[in-house]
Amino acid sequence: MSQRETWATRAGFILAAVGSAVGLGNIWQFPFKTSEYGGATFLVVYLIAALGIGLPAMLAEFVIGRKSNLNAISAFEKLGHGNWKWVGVLGVGTGFWILSYYSVVGGWVLRYLGGSLTGAYFADPAGYFGSISAGLDALVLHAVFIALVVAIVAGGVEEGIEKATKLMVPSIVVILGVLAVWVVTLPGAAPGYGYFLSPDLSTLSLSVSFDPLPSFSGPLTDVIPFAVSQAFFSLSLGMGAMITYASYVGEDQSLFSDSLTVVVLNSAVGVLAGLVVIPLLFVQGIEPGSGGAGALFVSLATAFGELPAGRLVGVVFFAVVLIAALSSAISLLEVVTSYVVDNYGARRPRIASALGALIFLLGIPSAIDTAWLGWFDTLAYQLLLPLSVLGVLVFTGWVYGRPAVAELLSGSSLGEGVGLTWLWLARTIVILAVLLTLWLGVQTLFV
Ligand code: PHE
Ligand code: NA
Repeated sequence: MSQRETWATRAGFILAAVGSAVGLGNIWQFPFKTSEYGGATFLVVYLIAALGIGLPAMLAEFVIGRKSNLNAISAFEKLGHGNWKWVGVLGVGTGFWILSYYSVVGGWVLRYLGGSLTGAYFADPAGYFGSISAGLDALVLHAVFIALVVAIVAGGVEEGIEKATKLMVPSIVVILGVLAVWVVTLPGAAPGYGYFLSPDLSTLSLSVSFDPLPSFSGPLTDVIPFAVSQAFFSLSLGMGAMITYASYVGEDQSLFSDSLTVVVLNSAVGVLAGLVVIPLLFVQGIEPGSGGAGALFVSLATAFGELPAGRLVGVVFFAVVLIAALSSAISLLEVVTSYVVDNYGARRPRIASALGALIFLLGIPSAIDTAWLGWFDTLAYQLLLPLSVLGVLVFTGWVYGRPAVAELLSGSSLGEGVGLTWLWLARTIVILAVLLTLWLGVQTLFV
């Protein structure tokens, strides 16, 4: 096997991990799911999950990736002596599944980039979204988006990915920040902030009874599976992405501070997007929960139609969203490509193209009908993501176990107590929380 590639600079890994995390999950999905599933209650559960479950789970993925120096499937084989390969397979499969419809939404972004240039969506923002989000238009743009992703992954780790990410996060923060300030000035925005930011404490409750299986009731039964899985999706967990990226990292880098950076930046971008989109929905009289998958696109298209220099703002905004979507999609395709390159020694460009073609095919239903897109998304949230993260935690906590602590601490100045606490949490409370999420999520699939 040839020498494995590594990040060119220390910042390469953290940039790529942030690039993977910050994407359509923050800008498109987070605002619309928040407004659909409980507003501020969703936000509270999401933030707790990101820190309390997402951070320890990300550390687990980083440890597995860096220790094994392998792709997400072979890593489990090597550290777990073969029997645990399925955790990797499940993660890679989940990533494949998600990329199929992620790419369709990426196609919408491409379309809105063009629409901002020509002003095509100004006259009828809702009608425009309806006409481009499903059907032949959506299919063609899905193909274009996946082709872009393939082209970047084919170029290899250093050139393709490191460069694209550097400007993205600062640009997103600046643009969303400016828009957020502008939205404050709009009449009718105030109730949007209340809905998004001030939780009604009575909604933060969950009760359980046993007869003999646990049965849950209370407002959180619906919020938990969506909000916790949103944290997994948004942090790129349970899909082998962080394992793969960490496999290119040296032992001298602190995994702990890197993961904290990713979690904080990622949540900040989501909250910022929420501060723009949710009040805008209120300004436009769109009831919480009725915006659906089009919430981001319709609300912003309307806003850009009213802003001075709306076309220019629209072009810049959707260009940045495109970069965010690409850097996330790249990490998903990289997971699978890296497995095939490691194991079959095949050439990168050929593998990436073949996989891209398969992902295109899997995404056809989502491109043709947004109801299919919703179904793909629901299955990922309510079943695949929590199951896959559970696998990672059980493997790291109970199978690999104690050696994970030394790997976690390598390159960091933290004491052993921090590592042991992490391992203990990952083995117990965090696993229980994911089990609860999975249990509640699976139930929403069957009611
Ligand atoms: N985290 C990305 C986002 O929020 C999506 C993603 C998921 C990317 C999984 C890679 C792996 O958009
Ligand atoms: Na994200």
